[in-house]
Amino acid sequence: MEEESKKIDKKTWKKFGSLYTFLLPHKWIFSLGLLFLALSSLTTLAFPLLLGRIFDESTLERINDLGFILLGIFLLNAIFSFFRIYIFEYVSQRTLADMRQKTFSRLITLPLTFFNERRVGELNSRLSADLTLLQSVFTTTTAEFLRQIVTILGGIVMLSFISMRLTFFMLALVPVIAIVAVIFGRFIRKLSKETQQKIADSNTIVEESLQAIQSVKAFANEYYELNRYTGITNDVVKVAMKAAAYRGAFVSFIIFGLFGSIIGVIWYGLILKESGVISGGDLFSFVLYTVFVGASIGGIADLYSQILKAVGATENLMEILEEEGEDVSLSDGVIPNQLKGSIHFNKVDFHYPNREDIEVLHDIEFKANAGDVIGLAGASGAGKSTIASLIYRFYDVQKGEILIDGKDIQSFNLTELRREMAIVPQEVILFGGSIRENIGYGKPGASDEEIVQAAAKANAMEFIDKFPEGLDTLVGERGVQLSGGQRQRIAIARAVLKNPSILILDEATSALDSESEKLVQDALQKLMSGRTSIVIAHRLSTIRNANTILVLKGGKIVEMGSWNELTQEKKGVFQNMLEHQFELKS
Ligand SMILES: Nc1ncnc2c1ncn2[C@@H]1O[C@H](COP(=O)(O)OP(=O)(O)OP(=O)(O)O)[C@@H](O)[C@H]1O
Ligand SMILES: [Mg+2]
Repeated sequence: MEEESKKIDKKTWKKFGSLYTFLLPHKWIFSLGLLFLALSSLTTLAFPLLLGRIFDESTLERINDLGFILLGIFLLNAIFSFFRIYIFEYVSQRTLADMRQKTFSRLITLPLTFFNERRVGELNSRLSADLTLLQSVFTTTTAEFLRQIVTILGGIVMLSFISMRLTFFMLALVPVIAIVAVIFGRFIRKLSKETQQKIADSNTIVEESLQAIQSVKAFANEYYELNRYTGITNDVVKVAMKAAAYRGAFVSFIIFGLFGSIIGVIWYGLILKESGVISGGDLFSFVLYTVFVGASIGGIADLYSQILKAVGATENLMEILEEEGEDVSLSDGVIPNQLKGSIHFNKVDFHYPNREDIEVLHDIEFKANAGDVIGLAGASGAGKSTIASLIYRFYDVQKGEILIDGKDIQSFNLTELRREMAIVPQEVILFGGSIRENIGYGKPGASDEEIVQAAAKANAMEFIDKFPEGLDTLVGERGVQLSGGQRQRIAIARAVLKNPSILILDEATSALDSESEKLVQDALQKLMSGRTSIVIAHRLSTIRNANTILVLKGGKIVEMGSWNELTQEKKGVFQNMLEHQFELKS
């Protein structure tokens, strides 16, 4: 809906034009397609002419000859049309694939900042709906557009050869009606879109209330939902009936207007024939050309509106293609495990790019030697996960610097840096495939043996073995078919497989009962040894052995020290948290 109402300015047209570069690699085959298109249009145009001739012939021999020629022309037309359609489909599919690949490769390398502001559904529709729209416009629609123009111009030339007077008469009638029909048609389509929208709205109500069925029932709001639904479904009827009235009028108009105008042409043609200006065959050809030209004019207006829609879609797509992606190419000759893993936050200030006015971290200063365990504690929203994101360089800091192995984090190649790190995130979201694929994600191309070893180290074999399909068990969309603790152990196994120099554990034990927690803790201890680890914990006991604990409050470090040092401070923030930790835990 938006596309149509949005004003299309020059710049958008230019962007749209620049998308034609996707056709360049296929220019030869595309030209071949155009050739077939021209040939098939010309053979189509020859048809009314010859048919008219047959009518005027009196000898059987000539009639036979012309009949054969006509048949031959149809055969040619059939062959040309086959190649025209096949070639344009080929070019069209190839350019679509190229555009898709380019867009996806851009999307997937864009920084997280971009994704914070977008919705996945919207981006997905860019890739599917918008691109499909564009694809058809670039090839099929363009070709059709040309074909219709050839038909219109060629048709009018043929018409004027038959009779100038009749041509003028026809041109005064048919195009006007055809264009009115198109405008009418678009208006009706808008109405039917409105109906679609209403139906979509009513589906949203069903979806939302069923998804939250427990809340609906808990609040005894069944009737409330039912009323909302009834209201909107009744609206659907109203809008649909309005559209139906216009559609009925439209069809009446077409029947009366279009056929009426053709009858007009025939009527005038018959008068001309009576006065001997044209022959019966000419009149027959003329009427056929009129139908061709009329249909093409109607068609071309429709194609034009399709092109407009596609131009609108370009804008959204171009936004993605114009964004700057992260440099994720791996510099040559990088051998993993090159980092020792020391981390130094040097007076770091940070706010999220999409919320400039809220400073999330202020003057953060700490050092972790290679192999150290750093514990992060602090209330919800204090900035703990943000520190983890900065170590990963998901975002750049605004003030201060982060040094890894004494080198500014910005001087590393991103891929190189991130290959040296692993995170067991706060919320583990798995890919929809098997357990094996999900663990293997930590090291593409890992052998079965390595995967089993990693799973064992993560104490995950214990539950994997209980599934009949073992490692090939499917985890369901985003991993929903596994429990929280099982998902975490898969994430740990993945990290084990990656064998990073820097490890980040974000709340890794929050979702577990004490039995599983022990298993996970145990797995984590194994995983942490020999690497620099950043452990974010609400359950403070998990960071008892950390070399240094940072206590964050409102984005600032308020206390720092070992467990013993911090607990000696009787009125300290950490000591206070420890005393209240059961309340904080949730
Ligand atoms: N992507 C984001 N864009 C903008 N603001 C964000 C983003 N992520 C977090 N924030 C904000 O930054 C602040 C710190 O968030 P952070 O996730 O670091 O907290 P946390 O200490 O990990 O909390 P929790 O213990 O609940 O996980 C919060 O105020 C939050 O609203
Ligand atoms: Mg967090």
